[in-house]
Amino acid sequence: MKYTALSALLLPALVSAHSARHHARQATTATYDYSAAFSNADTAAASSSLPTTVTFSLLSVNPTAVPLSEINTGTTQTQSTIAISTTYAGSSKPTWIANAPDLPPSLPIPTNYPTLDVTPPTDSDEAQQWIKEVMDSGVYIPDIAPTNPGGCGNNTAAVANASSTGTCWWTCGGCTRSTDVSVCPTQNSWGVSYDDGPSPYTPNLLQYFDQEDIRATFFAIGSRIISRPAILQDEYMTGNQIAVHTWSHPYMTTKTTEQVIVELGWTKKVIKDTLGVTPIYWRPPYGDIDDRVRAISQAMNLIPILWTRISSTQTFDTNDWSIPGGSVNVYEVLDNWELIMGNSTKIDTGFIVLEHDLFEQTVDVATGYILPQALAHQPKYNMTPIVECLDMPLANGYLETNDNSSNPLPLASVTPVSTYSASGASATSTGSSSSGASGSHSSGSSSSDSQSSGSSNLMAVNSMLLGIAIAAGAGAATLFL
Ligand SMILES: *[C@@H]1O[C@H](CO)[C@@H](O)[C@H](O)[C@H]1NC(C)=O
Ligand SMILES: *[C@@H]1O[C@H](CO)[C@@H](O)[C@H](O)[C@H]1NC(C)=O
Ligand SMILES: *[C@@H]1O[C@H](CO)[C@@H](O)[C@H](O)[C@H]1NC(C)=O
Ligand SMILES: *[C@@H]1O[C@H](CO)[C@@H](O)[C@H](O)[C@H]1NC(C)=O
Ligand SMILES: [Zn+2]
Repeated sequence: MKYTALSALLLPALVSAHSARHHARQATTATYDYSAAFSNADTAAASSSLPTTVTFSLLSVNPTAVPLSEINTGTTQTQSTIAISTTYAGSSKPTWIANAPDLPPSLPIPTNYPTLDVTPPTDSDEAQQWIKEVMDSGVYIPDIAPTNPGGCGNNTAAVANASSTGTCWWTCGGCTRSTDVSVCPTQNSWGVSYDDGPSPYTPNLLQYFDQEDIRATFFAIGSRIISRPAILQDEYMTGNQIAVHTWSHPYMTTKTTEQVIVELGWTKKVIKDTLGVTPIYWRPPYGDIDDRVRAISQAMNLIPILWTRISSTQTFDTNDWSIPGGSVNVYEVLDNWELIMGNSTKIDTGFIVLEHDLFEQTVDVATGYILPQALAHQPKYNMTPIVECLDMPLANGYLETNDNSSNPLPLASVTPVSTYSASGASATSTGSSSSGASGSHSSGSSSSDSQSSGSSNLMAVNSMLLGIAIAAGAGAATLFL
């Protein structure tokens, strides 16, 4: 009960405060000129109330760390980037995954891809092909309207329906489905991840990884890969997991079904074209996912990974990316990290944390402070890429190398049915779905996965989604509230 009251009172305020900053970041450009995107007023108002020391003793600090006083708030820093350790010749052989194909013979040619940092057009040949595949996948796409821009505060009706019996909107209401990955099963295992790169600072992070024998999952943005494909190859070739983080980093629930498909499709494609493998995991930007976006991603053989939530309002978010925005400084990020570590040993699972390799500050705080604290933590953390913390080999991160017998792909249990029609596919403004899906066939045996009609699959997928109880959320709520 207290859980519900809290979420109703706090969430809209929290998320609308966030959305102002998120909006600033949506202005991201390929040249990393963020100065115009962050308003000075916001920075000045926010930084005066920020802490100026850490309130706990640091267990361990990297001897070459950038001093905390030099990790600046409210600016973009542009110093000390290093070159990648290795550039790989075309057709090089990956060594971390036994059955991986060679790297492609050459890097992607940018002019073969859509404009960077905007949602790609939905009328290209590629887009139409992917839309048809989704509509033919047999996965029922719920007819949930795209949300309004502006976050929870600008979506009163949708927020009222955001619970586990409604649209299960993660960012607005804190609802998680069991088909979402948000923890690692084993206590003290940390599925490490970095989002929004590759950036000019990613090589600094990779150098520290190499020094300390750390590997992670990189949720890469398609538009950034176009700019820095060799860095993505270096991440992959050194044993990190590569996963999808969309083409232009939008709030995915605000996008039409066709737009969600192209955001995911182009990112899968540029990763395949750069590495030779296609990820089967993705992270929605801002964690913005509901049952419609979940279903579309399943239809594209993509499994959503969020980060650990301990209550409706608290997640394992370092908030590192807000340092350049000016609303948070490095001391506050380290305080967040201290609380995350404190909570990590209180939960009975492992955990996943939100961090970024996009900005110099986020990389400096990771290599200088966050990762050294983690390495010194007792009990010891088992730090791995997320697919490995799920007790699977790296190979299971990709379509081409996944062990389909022990780990069926998201689409494996869905019987393809042909429900595609031009009218179904073009109903973009309502976030529409496969044409046969709204039928009211009553299917007695909805639990079977091997049904042959679209409506039956609708029932099967629906019951799968709805059957996923609030178990995780409720457990966390009783633990913390
Ligand atoms: C709120 O949603 C409406 C309808 O989509 C939109 O026109 C408006 O710009 C949104 N407001 C903000 C602050 O994003
Ligand atoms: C509420 O959620 C249900 C279940 O997902 C969905 O079918 C319905 O369209 C939603 N209603 C609104 C107003 O979003
Ligand atoms: C867990 O997180 C909450 C909220 O961030 C915080 O109040 C609490 O002190 C943390 N617990 C520990 C043991 O660090
Ligand atoms: C797993 O299935 C996918 C899709 O059918 C296929 O492309 C891939 O080659 C299979 N994986 C292996 C290791 O055979
Ligand atoms: Zn992101």
